Amino acid sequence: MRRNLLAAMLLAACVLPAQADDALREAYTHPLPGLADSDRETFFRGRGLFRQSWVVAPAEDRAAGLGPLYNRLSCISCHQKNGRGRSPDGPDERMLSMLVRLSVPGKAADGGPKAHPAYGGQLNEEGIAGVPGEGRAALSWVETKPITLAGGEKVSFRRPQIRFVELAYGPMGKVLTSPRIGQPVYGLGLLEAVPDATLLTMAAENKADGVRGRVNRVWDAAAKQTVIGRFGFKSNQPNLRQQIAGAMVGDLGITSTLFPDENCTPAQKACQKAPSAGHPELSDADLDAMEFYLANIAPPSRRNADDPQVRAGERQFASLGCASCHRPELQTGPNQRFPLTANQRIAPYTDLLIHDMGQGLADGRPDFQATGREWRTPPLWGIGLVPLVNEHSQFLHDGRARNLQEAILWHGGEARTARQRYVATKPEARKALLAFLESL
Ligand code: HEC
Ligand code: HEC
Repeated sequence: MRRNLLAAMLLAACVLPAQADDALREAYTHPLPGLADSDRETFFRGRGLFRQSWVVAPAEDRAAGLGPLYNRLSCISCHQKNGRGRSPDGPDERMLSMLVRLSVPGKAADGGPKAHPAYGGQLNEEGIAGVPGEGRAALSWVETKPITLAGGEKVSFRRPQIRFVELAYGPMGKVLTSPRIGQPVYGLGLLEAVPDATLLTMAAENKADGVRGRVNRVWDAAAKQTVIGRFGFKSNQPNLRQQIAGAMVGDLGITSTLFPDENCTPAQKACQKAPSAGHPELSDADLDAMEFYLANIAPPSRRNADDPQVRAGERQFASLGCASCHRPELQTGPNQRFPLTANQRIAPYTDLLIHDMGQGLADGRPDFQATGREWRTPPLWGIGLVPLVNEHSQFLHDGRARNLQEAILWHGGEARTARQRYVATKPEARKALLAFLESL
């Protein structure tokens, strides 16, 4: 499945390096190889919906329905070039590709987090004319104690601290928060096509070093039942379609048949009275197109996979125990809806399971069955291209890691042994491991 891309990249490598970089910057945007001509229109229509800016109702525009409360005007603003968002550098900078989930202790009727009574499940910083935005999450960084790696290299860390300012609907009171950057959105159809049975098998396997891993079980709003979760930082969404409709209403304020209600709480009277662009605002045909688009974006192909240092790093990755969560190989099952994702051997470097990652990474906010310490193993495919495509090198759920090494050193809980081995590894072997990650 990678051959076309690889050929394209070899070609690109023969021309000027600047052009090769230009091509690589688009590496998260290609359809899966083999997309039929008859499907291209749907793919590009979905892409258009993902990229366009939505406008306030009433308007003659098909892209009407923004708000009343929202975070950004378009999906792509938090998923630049289909890649990841970033966190602000300090409290005065707005969250441009990041959001803060909110809840109060307890569970909602569907088993999910219990929404804050005045602010809902997520802070919507923006409002349309006449509807005050909810306020702003000011993020500051706290430097933590440096540690020393084998060979003497010193590494320091930063952890985020959130303060709510300009709150429009009263004091926040006791609230659980989870700041999260936009996640990359390529390869998701392939991840959706990995059978539930594979996830359950991996969860049940006996793993070394105290690694466990389990599935999250979440509410499927269409099937009206609890199912295995696989999208979102805590596997808190059951499938792509619901993830997309959830983002539409939660991040943009656009309703769909899956989520027909605007995200106004009882305290938000102006929000409730604001005009709507229709019931629902997003047609099923448009939701279909967005789902088709996101299901059919290819993961990027690897670079320099045969480089000796990269190969040495790949062996390190296995021997340090990284691969017991970041699975180098999975097999997708049959899939009639999105045939290009069916029966593929993929290299996502994830098990899609949630793991206890320790107190250092904990957000303290349960999400369905995931605890405040549990996070889904993120896929690592394409991770080496983040600096080129997204022009930053922030990693982990809140972007606290400023490079790949910091991301590894934040690992705790079930990944404690792997982290300790990394700390104790010789500098040149650590360099090889990082070179391997950069090749993904
Ligand atoms: C304000 C920033 C923001 C906007 C706007 C936004 N997203 Fe996201 N997106 C996120 C964050 C944060 C996550 C992680 C969510 C979580 O963990 O619950 C995410 C996760 C996702 C995922 C899951 C990726 C994975 O690996 O599980 C998909 C798909 C997605 N968004 C699609 C969309 C679509 C479609 C839109 C437009 C309707 C959109 N996003 C708008 C921030 C944003
Ligand atoms: C117990 C399972 C587990 C093990 C073992 C593990 N990881 Fe992870 N890894 C995770 C989880 C879960 C996260 C996400 C944590 C977060 O965002 O707070 C993560 C995040 C990462 C990230 C950042 C990814 C991103 O998209 O931001 C990198 C890089 C990474 N791991 C590399 C490694 C390496 C290298 C090793 C071995 C030294 C390793 N991991 C071992 C579970 C694991």
